[in-house]
Amino acid sequence: MAKPKKSAIILDGKALAEKIKLALRKEIIKLPSPPGLAAILVGDDEASKIYLRLKKKAAQEIGINFHEYLCGNDCCPNVPEEELLTMVGFLNNDPATSGIIVQLPLPKKFNTKKIIGAIDPQKDVDGFHPQNKTGIIPPTIAAVIELLKTTGENLPGKNTLIIGKSDIFTRGLKKHLMAELKIKKIKETKEITAGTKDSDIIVIAIGEAEALKKNHIKPGAIIIDVGINKVKDKTVGDVDPKAAEIAGWLSPVPGGVGPLTVACLLRNVLALAKK
Ligand code: GUN
Repeated sequence: MAKPKKSAIILDGKALAEKIKLALRKEIIKLPSPPGLAAILVGDDEASKIYLRLKKKAAQEIGINFHEYLCGNDCCPNVPEEELLTMVGFLNNDPATSGIIVQLPLPKKFNTKKIIGAIDPQKDVDGFHPQNKTGIIPPTIAAVIELLKTTGENLPGKNTLIIGKSDIFTRGLKKHLMAELKIKKIKETKEITAGTKDSDIIVIAIGEAEALKKNHIKPGAIIIDVGINKVKDKTVGDVDPKAAEIAGWLSPVPGGVGPLTVACLLRNVLALAKK
């Protein structure tokens, strides 16, 4: 009889997100007024529209007032940068707005650094502002941390590898994994290499569909998949699902980091609203 294939424990980000949202809902109904989340979307990027819709639905489910400021083909196309800065300035001063998102990427003509830098750090729910002293952790990073915690494994001594194209993401993740989970040995790389097989934990965000294969993985490793890729009409991650035959833990796509990122964003909104 063939030996049954081993299978990784699936890290259910969706279920954990629902748990976090329920806890937030319970806190929000006790507040004298609901928190407000303002989201600015410039352009007609389809993926950004989908992300924003998910954020809106989740915010409304738990009693956060969600306001969209959409500058695309349907309304106010070709918005000048000055106008965007004025909009951010207005929201900075609006007492009903607890948190501000500028959905990225912005169209190329905009100076993203300047616009993100114009957000009041006290309302920066994405944790993108260079002077972020609020203790806010960027939601995607917070989601990775939550998933790692649910393994219940002894994390600090684990060889950890972050595979990511964006330096801002990999640097930020490394900093927070050290601070929040006390992980000491963390390497960053831009691509999958022979070294991936030595890692006890791999976090991957390279935007390449199912690129991390089971032969890249150490048996029993914890694999967190931050990738979101469209293949035909299907959403897939950066990890081949067959990796589950080797890994000890695996976060799925969809249903892993994605929904948890939204829940962590809303947690940031409540934290800043309470300040
Ligand atoms: N675009 C992709 N991810 C994010 C995010 O976490 N925040 C914002 N503002 N834009 C994004």
